[in-house]
Amino acid sequence: MVAQLPQILPFDDVAVAVAARLLRAGEIVAIPTETVYGLAADATNAEAVARIYAAKGRPSFNPLIVHVLDLTAAEQIAQFDDAARALATRWWPGPLTLVLPLHPETGIAGLVTAGLDTIALRVPAHRAMQAVLQASGKPLAAPSANASNAISPTRASHVAASLGARVPLILDDGPTTAGVESTIVGLAGNGGVILRPGPITAEQLGLSASPRNAQVGAHITAPGQLATHYAPAKPLRLDAAARAGDEWLIGFGTITGDDTLSATGDLIEAAARLFDALHRADASPADHIAVAPIPEDGIGAAINDRLRRAAHR
Ligand code: TXA
Ligand code: MG
Repeated sequence: MVAQLPQILPFDDVAVAVAARLLRAGEIVAIPTETVYGLAADATNAEAVARIYAAKGRPSFNPLIVHVLDLTAAEQIAQFDDAARALATRWWPGPLTLVLPLHPETGIAGLVTAGLDTIALRVPAHRAMQAVLQASGKPLAAPSANASNAISPTRASHVAASLGARVPLILDDGPTTAGVESTIVGLAGNGGVILRPGPITAEQLGLSASPRNAQVGAHITAPGQLATHYAPAKPLRLDAAARAGDEWLIGFGTITGDDTLSATGDLIEAAARLFDALHRADASPADHIAVAPIPEDGIGAAINDRLRRAAHR
């Protein structure tokens, strides 16, 4: 008999071990946090992170929040100044996410930060997410575990209804308590601004709420104060069947170039390689970048969205 997907396991040691094994194998798993259920993947495995996007059907790539066990683990990934350390010490574990300068060579996949040199980190206050972080030994990227444009899941049944068989395992530990996504504070060279309101308020944090982001609701949009997307500095041409002039060609499938998103035409691999390929193109001696056509199917839509934005700037 074939097991029905998704498998929903109540939180216990066995469920945690199964979740950790799947995550270490590059799979995605839905795990509760104190805010909402997250759709987790190993943040150091680009293809695993691409599977988050494929499962959510998100039409674009946003930088994702990375969950870690404690401040020590966070400091291995990002640079903390005194203000950041004070907030972390006061509020972690808890529903506070800090956006900080990313250390180089941490092994965090470029798709997690969407190519940015900053990273959003948080230490969740939930026994299930903490147990899986401990058992997997990996930093876990996790947006809310719902399909794109659906509301955030606060119960395992919401995840199952929204993602169905697109997620192999849901760890069920009952309803979440906060019910709204974590408060996000930007600390990358701007002294602390609220990028997304959440369970911890501006007053509690001793920060002024940004008027542009003051609404709390089901659809909180991306912040405006920090660049939320990396784009290459050089002009970029799309749908290139071949190199023209001094272009650096990023190939796909049968179109070979100076680099390729996926020689076999695999869209998950292409998503996983996208931001690294754009950074390599930017660092190359060529003055222009061209990219082979990418099919619009599945996660291809998100790849094309990012490429189109990089081309029109
Ligand atoms: O409560 C939560 O935070 C939930 C649970 C699962 O932990 N997670 C969550 O993750 O909401 P996610 O990945 O959907 O949140 C991503 C948001 C982006 O929309 C963006 O606004 C912000 O975090 N973000 C992430 N990295 C950023 C960066 N480097 N710079 C600015 N904003 C960033
Ligand atoms: Mg969400």
